[in-house]
Amino acid sequence: MHHFEYRDGVLHVEDVAIPEIAAATGTPFYCYSSATLERHYRVFSEAFRGQPARVCYAVKANSNLAVIATLARLGAGADVVSEGELRRALAAGVPPRKIVFSGVGKTDSEIIFALETGIDQFNVESEPELERLSELATARDMTARIAIRVNPDVDARTHEKISTGKAENKFGISWQRAPAVYARAAELPGIEATGIDVHIGSQLTDLAPFEAAFRRVADMVENLRAQGHDITRIDLGGGLGIPYRGDNDVPPHPDEYAAMVKRCIGHLGCELTFEPGRLIAGNAGILVSRVIYEKTGDDRSFLIIDAAMNDLIRPTLYDAFHEIRPVIEAAGTAEKVTYDVVGPVCETGDFMAKGRRLPRLKAGDLIAIMSAGAYGAVQASEYNTRPLVPEVLVQVDRFAQVRARPSYDAILKQDMIPSWLE
Ligand code: LLP
Repeated sequence: MHHFEYRDGVLHVEDVAIPEIAAATGTPFYCYSSATLERHYRVFSEAFRGQPARVCYAVKANSNLAVIATLARLGAGADVVSEGELRRALAAGVPPRKIVFSGVGKTDSEIIFALETGIDQFNVESEPELERLSELATARDMTARIAIRVNPDVDARTHEKISTGKAENKFGISWQRAPAVYARAAELPGIEATGIDVHIGSQLTDLAPFEAAFRRVADMVENLRAQGHDITRIDLGGGLGIPYRGDNDVPPHPDEYAAMVKRCIGHLGCELTFEPGRLIAGNAGILVSRVIYEKTGDDRSFLIIDAAMNDLIRPTLYDAFHEIRPVIEAAGTAEKVTYDVVGPVCETGDFMAKGRRLPRLKAGDLIAIMSAGAYGAVQASEYNTRPLVPEVLVQVDRFAQVRARPSYDAILKQDMIPSWLE
C-alpha cells in the first residue's frame, strides 16, 4: 500500500500533484511519501504486537535525514553499517540505545566512535573483529554488548548480489564455528555476548528460507545456553520483500512473517530485533523524470529520459523491475508503444526498463519510476558529472526539498588542482 495515486488523471503523492513539485524542483528528483513510510513502519511493528520485538530501520535503504527522522518520531531504532550512517541516525534523533551496528569491515575509528556514542549492540561478523572490539573497549574501560552474526548457509533464493546467508558469502561466522567463537567471547574482557544475529539476504519473496535460517538460529540458541551462554537477544535482520509489480506481486505480509517468527523463535523468550529497510522505504518513494526525446531506431523505440543509471542503478545492477507510470494518465484508448526507457549516460547498461509497453510519450512529458524509495538515492553517483538528484518529502498537502540539487560550481569545487598544474 502506498500513497501515489492518480487524481483527475494526474499522479499525486498524498495530496500533492507531481507536476507542482517538478515545477518547483526541476527534474529528475526523488519524491517520498511520509504517510507511506509511516504506514509501512506501523504495519511491520504492529505485526509483532505481543512479541518482545523492536524495529531498527536499516538506514542503508534510504538514509536521508528527513526519512530517518520521520521513522525516529514513531519510535524506530536504526541499523547502521558505517560511521557515516551512525552519524546520520544520531543527527535524525535516533537515541544511541536503539542503534545496532552491522557490517563485515568496521574500522578502529568507527568502532571507537560507536563505543563512545554508547550504541546498543555491535553485530560482530568475524573473529578478528571480536578480538579488536575487545581491545578497543577494554582500553576505554568499556563493555561492548554484542551479537555474533552467524552464517546459516541457507539459500535465500533472491538475486545473487543481495544474497548473504550462504557459506560462500563474506557475511557472518559459519554456524558450525559459532560455538567456539561464543566460548572465546566469554573469555574476552570488554565483551558481553548476549545476542545472536542473522541476515540471509534482501528482497525475499518466500518465507521458507527465513524459516530454515531461523530454525537453525533457534537450535543454536538452545545449544549455546546448554554450554552456559546466557543468550537473551536475537537479531533477525531484514530482507522481507516488497511488491515491485503492483498487484501481480504478492510477497508475504508482515503478519505472516511475524507468525512464522513466533513459531520458530517464540519459545526462547528472547528480545527480538528486526532490521527492515526496503519494506519500509521501497514503495514510499519514486523517481520522477522528464522525457528528453522519443527516438525511433531501426530495431526499437527508445524513450530517452533525464534520469539515468547514476541516479537509479537497480535495473542494470540487479536486473530489477521498476514499474513506470506516465504522470499524466493516458486514456484507455491511447496508442501504446514498446519502449526501451534509457538515460543519457554513455553506456549500454544505462536503462530503466527494456521492452516496456507504455502509452506513447513525447518530449517534455513526466514519468514516475515507482518503488524507488529504497536503494535509489543512496546508491546514486555523479557519474558523467551529473549532479546528484534532489530529494523531496511530501506530508499530506505540503512538500519540502530534503536534499538540494548541488550546483555545478559546488561539484567542480570538490576537486583541487595541485600546485604543479597551476
Ligand atoms: N540488515 C543487514 C545486515 C543488511 O545487510 C541489510 C541489507 C538489511 C538489514 C536490510 O535489508 P532489507 O530489509 O532492505 O532487504 N542494494 C540492493 C539491496 C542491498 C541490501 C543490503 N543489505 C538492492 O537495491 O536491491
